Amino acid sequence: MKVVVTRPIPEEGLQIIRDRGHEVVVHDDTVKSEDQLVEMVVGADVIVPLLSEKITPRVLEAAGPQLKAICQFTVGYDNVDVEAIKAKNLLLTNTPGAISAPAVSEQAIALMFAAGRHIVEADAFMRSGQYQQWDPNLFLGQGFMGKTVGIVGTGQIGSIFAQICHNGLKMRVLYSDVVRNENLERDLGATKVELEQLLKEADVVSVHVPLLPTTHHLLSTAQFEMMKPTAILINTSRGPVVDEVALVKALQDKQIAGAGVDVFENEPHMSEGMAELQNLVVTPHTSSATWATRVGMAEACARNVIAVLAGEEVPNLIKL
Ligand code: DGY
Repeated sequence: MKVVVTRPIPEEGLQIIRDRGHEVVVHDDTVKSEDQLVEMVVGADVIVPLLSEKITPRVLEAAGPQLKAICQFTVGYDNVDVEAIKAKNLLLTNTPGAISAPAVSEQAIALMFAAGRHIVEADAFMRSGQYQQWDPNLFLGQGFMGKTVGIVGTGQIGSIFAQICHNGLKMRVLYSDVVRNENLERDLGATKVELEQLLKEADVVSVHVPLLPTTHHLLSTAQFEMMKPTAILINTSRGPVVDEVALVKALQDKQIAGAGVDVFENEPHMSEGMAELQNLVVTPHTSSATWATRVGMAEACARNVIAVLAGEEVPNLIKL
């Protein structure tokens, strides 16, 4: 059967599919338009898209009646029109969050230090020859040892982030979530609080919620106004969870001290003003970008594909 992969993924995953005798067509490493996808998917039994490829009703229709599933390479599937999948009775799978959670939480930690300690600005300062002599007032920033971290959403990523902060930096952990996280309360002495209290008390606020209608612009002007002027915001979840225009204003006005952001409201674009902000550190949605994580994602994706094509129980089926 035919598996169409919209952009290259690690060979380890592709080989698992080929070993089952399936034809695997891997397209080049460029973002595909809807028109390109419509041409590429014809005759596919399974499509493997990345976050950068929008799977629209037109793309699904173009594949043909033999199409069985969309086996997304990532955890998130915001690029897929879920209603269209349902309407066509197709299967939708993703890769398990457990594979990428350690890498994403490490990146959140990296952004926390980079933003809090001006690492990127200081690097540019050195490279441009501006360092003349030791200066006790140079790049003063936020230290984290023993401070308070506020974790918004304590799923797998938020929980690992909390462990690193508490076990490594002896931080007090506050969290907000729709459900209680008894493990974090027992293991780290974490306290569940309302978002408002978390924002008021935390020295670092790290966002780890999925993008849902209820989490869209969860943090906006009113929320930034509640935060400490020394606080750092980290977002490695999804861009639209944070109101980017409000974030730019909060950083410009020094309402908060800094931010580290890996995801954007209109990826791959940044909102006006972001590129000029010295107190913002940005990375291009690379939180899960470790070699091992990508291989793990490819292998998990491949296991979904072969299960779909064999008519077996599919490991990471999304309930629609
Ligand atoms: C995902 O898997 O959804 C990440 O956002 C991309 O690594």
